[in-house]
Amino acid sequence: MTDENILSNNYKNLIVTKLPNSKGLSVGQIQINRPDALNALNIELMGELLAALQKFDRDNEVGCIIITGSEKAFAAGADIKEFVSQGVIDMYVRDQFATWDKIRKIKKPIIAATSGYALGGGCELTMLCDMIVAAECTKFGQPEIKLGIIPGAGGTQRLTRAIGKAKAMEMILTGRLYTAKEMFDAGLVSRVVDDNVYLEEAQAMAKEIASMPLIALQVAKESIMKSFDTTIEGGLEYERKAFYMLFASEDMKEGMNAFIDKRKPQWKGK
Ligand code: CAA
Repeated sequence: MTDENILSNNYKNLIVTKLPNSKGLSVGQIQINRPDALNALNIELMGELLAALQKFDRDNEVGCIIITGSEKAFAAGADIKEFVSQGVIDMYVRDQFATWDKIRKIKKPIIAATSGYALGGGCELTMLCDMIVAAECTKFGQPEIKLGIIPGAGGTQRLTRAIGKAKAMEMILTGRLYTAKEMFDAGLVSRVVDDNVYLEEAQAMAKEIASMPLIALQVAKESIMKSFDTTIEGGLEYERKAFYMLFASEDMKEGMNAFIDKRKPQWKGK
């Protein structure tokens, strides 16, 4: 990574870079960097993560975003040391998970590139992303039960939707850790790869996605996300309107004309 690609040193817990992409738009990469706590997600870190994501979401040069951690830990969960002294009203007032709702509103596709521990809030953060590229050594788990709590950042809902009731029950009620292969077989993970190439694989996937027309990418993500909130009828109606809407984009005309002319499309992002 060359220094000029490192965007800002203003973040205390993140390393943020913009990766050039010869195929199309750039890839925004956010590395969680709190090694002393195995990337535990404290309030400050989550605030920084939201700010970095929103910045990439607004950046017209970026087509896809990666969130990654270290080889040892994607993230070992919410910060237990920050939690331990909190009372109900503290949790209510600081609205611990409001940040997570805002991350859910990010329009650009987000890939989690994982290695090592992805536990508790760390596992939930992978599920807040749109795709997961996992090193074989990734250990996924929702061990909150062992702390006398339950997953609070979407685990009971997103995990159940991703892998089904029986597997989600087992994972959350036992707090056991699962391999990347087990989570791939369960349907949580998009791709399991060798430990030494997980980031390169995620970057290659992100660059491929970032070479697609941005408006269609965003509308596709929005329509898929809609399937979690609606009936099949409502979802199909939403998809149809979204599909029709894309006929107003210049990229739709360009994509179809390029196909007919047998040339490479030049996307405009509008
Ligand atoms: N919060 C705060 N600090 C953490 C942490 C966490 N979630 N996970 C690890 N750390 C800290 C440790 O306290 C330790 O710090 P010190 O050196 O200052 O003691 C440092 O990171 C290294 O950790 P370990 O020495 O424990 O490393 P290990 O290799 O022996 O074990 C581990 C690794 C199995 C991941 C273990 O650290 C662990 O079990 N961590 C907690 C996992 C967990 O329970 N996560 C759920 C949190 S609650 C939650 O996430 C709620 C939610 O839904 C949002």
